[in-house]
Order: sequence, then structure tokens, then C-alpha cells
Amino acid sequence: MASMVIAAALLVSGCTSSGDGAIQRKGPASTTSSLPDSDQDQDSSDGEGGSTSSPTDGPLDGLGSPTSVGDPVTPGAGAEGIDVLSYDLDLNVADPQGPISATVLITVKAEQELAALNLDLHGLTVESATIDDLPVDVSRDGDELSLKPKSPIPQDTEFVAAISYSGDPNPVEDPSAPGVIGWLDRESGSFVAAEPIGTKAFLPSNDHPSDKALFSFTITAPENLTAIANGVLAEKLTENGMTSWRYTQSDPMATYLIQIAVGDYDLIEATGPRGMQIRHAVVRNLSEEQRTLLDQTAAQIEFFETLFGPYPLDTYGLLVADSSPEFALETQTLTLMPASWLRGNTDEFSRVAAHELAHQWYGDSITPSSWSDIWLNESFATYAEWLWADHAGIQPLEDSIEEGKQVAEEGRGIYGPIDDPRPTEIFSINVYYGGGYVLHALRLEIGDEQFFELLRRWAADNAGDNVSTEDFEALAAEITGSDLTDFFETWLRSDSLPALPNK
Ligand code: ARG
Ligand code: ZN
Repeated sequence: MASMVIAAALLVSGCTSSGDGAIQRKGPASTTSSLPDSDQDQDSSDGEGGSTSSPTDGPLDGLGSPTSVGDPVTPGAGAEGIDVLSYDLDLNVADPQGPISATVLITVKAEQELAALNLDLHGLTVESATIDDLPVDVSRDGDELSLKPKSPIPQDTEFVAAISYSGDPNPVEDPSAPGVIGWLDRESGSFVAAEPIGTKAFLPSNDHPSDKALFSFTITAPENLTAIANGVLAEKLTENGMTSWRYTQSDPMATYLIQIAVGDYDLIEATGPRGMQIRHAVVRNLSEEQRTLLDQTAAQIEFFETLFGPYPLDTYGLLVADSSPEFALETQTLTLMPASWLRGNTDEFSRVAAHELAHQWYGDSITPSSWSDIWLNESFATYAEWLWADHAGIQPLEDSIEEGKQVAEEGRGIYGPIDDPRPTEIFSINVYYGGGYVLHALRLEIGDEQFFELLRRWAADNAGDNVSTEDFEALAAEITGSDLTDFFETWLRSDSLPALPNK
């Protein structure tokens, strides 16, 4: 019964709750299913699932080589004791539907003495690996890749791991919703949809948002195809029918926000506020009319800059791909957007585009250090989406608030506290709509002036860094000069929902 009420509320705004409560946008093209294609199910037939657990899993295996950060939402993911500073990926994609071959240089700081460097890697074949140019023992255990040098790496040293690998990337089972994530390909090309743990399908990495790093990508592909990735194009060179595209992402990025796409994509350039570069990549068969929908990007950036402060990254644009499962994803500077969503309800597309853009401030530039704090991404992007929908005449804010209220009333009982959802419910409607409603309550509690100052300071003070709910509560207390402990306790964590502050 409860979930029917919620489903009814969400139908109004183009979303439905999947069986397990994860948000599934129907998208503007309501004829398309939000469930994964059956061929994707076959693709993930390696049976390893999204999160492996080996007997040594846990924050520490006792041998000075941590194999996980111990995040309950993504058991086995990431590794404690290391801080990856940068990934420099050299990737060959001769055929977007075929195997990849790559060499990655990973610069790491040892935060403790390390007997081995443990990374996440799903499938693929490791051909060779070194640490600081010296050979290492390579071992695999589920989705754990271990590089063991002859002698331990002392604490506080920086080192470079070089790994050459190849193979057909196997999708990873999505632990948060039905479907698969990772390196995906369709007839028009390949693209990446990795949140939360799909990056290990194509990159050996410390695949957890707590370890943000700098990235550069050199992608070599046949010259008739387009390759695009996060950040700005630094170099493009064609030789013997192959083009190498080098992209650099100069702001720190979490692994789940990587975007790399190779295929039949057209590049579209535009200029945003303050002369900032906008670039989109779209499937070639997108009509002129559908392409003009992208023109609103500049106005959306401008609107959010007035509310949240300057756009925090180098560039922005959409990657419009034949993506399914059908979800949009805020891949840093280059949002993944299903092409079908530009062929349907244009208001709904506009809302989703605003949502993913807002994530560039909340989620990408500043990133939760644990998946439990995902409301710091989704509730904020949802509230931003409501503000845009109101501004653009799509839906009055009061109506969005009303929808949020319906979800929030039922949601906490079903999906858990907003700032600590059950591990399988990190994308539940309660985190999106229920959390958007909480932010509106905070706005009423502290007033517009302090609320928007808080949003701006939150983005500016933490740009490039990781954040937690505690940090947010502390900043709110600092800005308002009042103790908001009870407010947050009640609105984020109590079993029942209070009435909106009447101020
Ligand atoms: N962060 C994406 C968005 O807001 C949703 C990603 C859903 N991820 C997933 N694996 N199902 O809009
Ligand atoms: Zn979102």
C-alpha cells in the first residue's frame, strides 16, 4: 500500500520505483522499459556479481595490504591505506564492441607500510605489472588484484604502479538496482555507466569515492570514430588510420564518475556563462530538433551559478548515448544521458539535465566519502531539479514539495534513514524525493539567505574534496550560529516525519 502511494506520486514526475525501491526514471520516452535488456543479463554471465568477498576481505587482512575500505554498501570495494594521486590511462579501442587493451600508470601514496598494492579489477587479463619499474607478483582473487613487490613499500612514500591489461570488459551486476554497470556498448558505440562499483570492469582502481584522484586518458580508436572522456581535449593525433585523443581532468574525480565513450558520436561545441567551454557528444542519428534541446545547457548553468556559486569544473556537456539500462549519470564534466530521453517528453529531459548538471557541484566537485552519505548527492540534485523546474515553468515548487512530502512520509520506514539508507537502497526514492523535502525543511528553518549561503559555502569550501553529513551539519551550524542537532536528528534520522517548520 505504502509503495503504491509513492509510485503514484512519482508517476507524476516521470519516475517509478523499481521492485527493490531504487529510483528508476521512466524517462521522457515512456514507451521504453526501464528494466535492463535481456542481452545485458547475458553479458553479465561471469557470475561474479558486483561485490566479491574473499576470506581476506575487510579493512585489513593483517598483512599490511588492506583489501577494502569496509564500506557496508559496497563490501570489498576500494582499499584502505593508499591514496591514489593520479591515473594516467592509455587505452586502445580498435572496436567499441570488442576487447580493449590498455596500460595505466597509477601514482599512489602509501598511507601505511604496504606489503602489496590491492586494487579492484573485474575480469580482464593482466599482462604485466611493475611498481617503480620493478617486477611484482601479480595475483587475483575475485575482483581483487594484488601487486606484491619484493619488499614492502614504506609508509609515506609515493610510487608508480604500471599495469598493462586487455580483454572484453564484463559488466558488473549493479548492487543498487536491477541491471548491470561498467563499460557498456551498443551499436552506436561504447560508454561508461559505473556508479557505484562498475569502474573495475575496465580500470584497475581504488574503486571507492573516498579516494579521489586526477585523471588523464589517451584513447586510441579508428579515425572514423569519436573518442571522448571527462575533462578537456589536450591533444589529438592521427596516424595510420588511428586517432589518439588525450583528455585531462584537472579537478580531482571519484572513480565512479569516469566517462569514456568511443563510437559514432558527433561533437557539438557551445559557449556557456563567462565564456566557459561547453561540449556535447551525441549519437549521430539524433535529429536537429533533438539537438536543439541541448541549447538550454547554458541557461541551466547560469541559473545554478546564481544559486550555488560558479560552475566548479573546467567544462561541461552531455554524452547522449544509446544507453540502457536507462539512467542518466553525472559523469564528471560529461553527463551520460540516454538518447531516448531526447526523443520523448522535453520537460522531463530538461529536469533530468538540470539534475545531472547540479551534481557537478554536489557529488562531483564535492563527493561523499561513504556511500551511506549518498543523500549529499541525490537529495541536493533533486532539490536543484525542483528549483529549475519551477524557474523554467515546468512544475511549481509547491507541487514538487508536495510530492517530496508523500515520499518522505512513507519512505523512512521502508528504506531506512536518509543519511544511512539500507545498502541496497542508496538510490531509493526516499534519498531523492524524501531528501529533497528535507532540504526544503532546512530552507524554511533557517531562511532563504542562510540556506543559499550554506549551499554556496558547501560547494566552495569543499571543492575537489570528500565530505560527510557531519561536515554539512557543522557548516550549517557555523553559518546560522545555531545548534541544528535536533533538526537534523529529526529530519534525517527519526522514524516519523515532523510538520514543515512554520517560519
Ligand atoms: N546518480 C544517478 C542520478 O542521479 C543515478 C545512478 C543510478 N545508478 C545505478 N547504478 N542504478 O541520477
Ligand atoms: Zn542524481
